[in-house]
Amino acid sequence: MNTMTPLDSFRATGARRRVSLVTGGTDGIGRAVAVQLARRGDQVLIVGRSEERGATVLGELHAAQPGVPHRFLRADLALLGETARLAARVARVTDHLYAAVFCAGVLSTVPEWTSDDLERNFVLSYLSRYLLTRRLLPLLAEAPSGRVVLVANAGVYRDTLDFDDLQYRHGKPGLNVSARTQFANDLFATELADRLRGTRVEVFCVFPGVTATSLLRNAIGLPRFVRAVAPLVQKLLAIPSTSRRRRRCTWRAPRTW
Ligand SMILES: NC(=O)c1ccc[n+]([C@@H]2O[C@H](COP(=O)([O-])OP(=O)(O)OC[C@H]3O[C@@H](n4cnc5c(N)ncnc54)[C@H](OP(=O)(O)O)[C@@H]3O)[C@@H](O)[C@H]2O)c1
Repeated sequence: MNTMTPLDSFRATGARRRVSLVTGGTDGIGRAVAVQLARRGDQVLIVGRSEERGATVLGELHAAQPGVPHRFLRADLALLGETARLAARVARVTDHLYAAVFCAGVLSTVPEWTSDDLERNFVLSYLSRYLLTRRLLPLLAEAPSGRVVLVANAGVYRDTLDFDDLQYRHGKPGLNVSARTQFANDLFATELADRLRGTRVEVFCVFPGVTATSLLRNAIGLPRFVRAVAPLVQKLLAIPSTSRRRRRCTWRAPRTW
C-alpha cells in the first residue's frame, strides 16, 4: 500500500513549484511584487478586498506566466475572522509557501473601529500580520528558505506605541494613529526574527521608500486637498531606485543553518 502523502511525493521528487502569497496584491507595491514573482515563475496567491482589482491583477499574473494557477483570495484583513479563514484557505490551496509578503495597509490619521471593536490600522499593520504569520509558518517551513516579508515604515516611527492604550481609545487624531501600528510591526519583525533564528524561515522588514501608489490618495483623515496633490508629492519625494535598493532591507534574521 502506498502511504505517501502528496507532500511526501513532492519532497521526494523535488518537483514543487514555488508558491508565494502577497497581501495587498490588488494594488500598489503588492501588485508590483506579485507581478515580479509571477515573472520569475512563482504561483502567486494575491489577497485583497476588491474582486474587480483582483481580477485585473490576476490577468496581469496570467500574462506574466501563462498556465500557472495563480489565485485571487478575497479577504478583509481588518477582520480577524476573515484573516483566520484566509489562512485556512491558503492551506487548502498549497502545502508550502516560499514567501508571505505583507503589503496590505492603509494610512489613517483618525482611528477607526472594526466590527471586532479593534482599531483598523492596528489590525491591518500588526494583528492580522501576526495571525497570518502564525498560521502560515508550517507552510513557510516546508520551503527550502521561506520568507516573511513585512512591508511597512520599518524603523521610521520609533517609540510611538502606548502599551496602556494599544487600541488608541484615548489618542488624538494625527500621524500617530498609523505610526504606532508601524512601530508594532517593527517589534513583531524583530521578535519573530529572534524566535525563528536557526530555522529555515527568514524575516524581512522593509521600508519601500516613498512610492507612488494609491496610499495617500486613499488615506483616511487627510484633507481632500492633500489627497488631491498626493501623486505630485509622491513623485517629488520618490527615492531613486538605487538608493531605495540600499534602504530596502532593515532587519533580517541571520541564517544559521
Ligand atoms: N507607498 C508608500 O510610499 C509607502 C511608504 C512606506 C510604507 N508603505 C507601506 O506599504 C504597504 C503597501 O502600500 P501601498 O503604497 O502599496 O498602498 P496601496 O497602493 O494603497 O495598496 C494597498 C493595498 O492594501 C489592500 N488593503 C487595504 N485594506 C485592506 C483590507 N482591509 N483587507 C485586505 N486588503 C486591504 C488594498 O487592496 P483592496 O483595496 O483590494 O482591499 C491594496 O491592495 C502599506 O503597508 C504601507 O504602509 C508604503
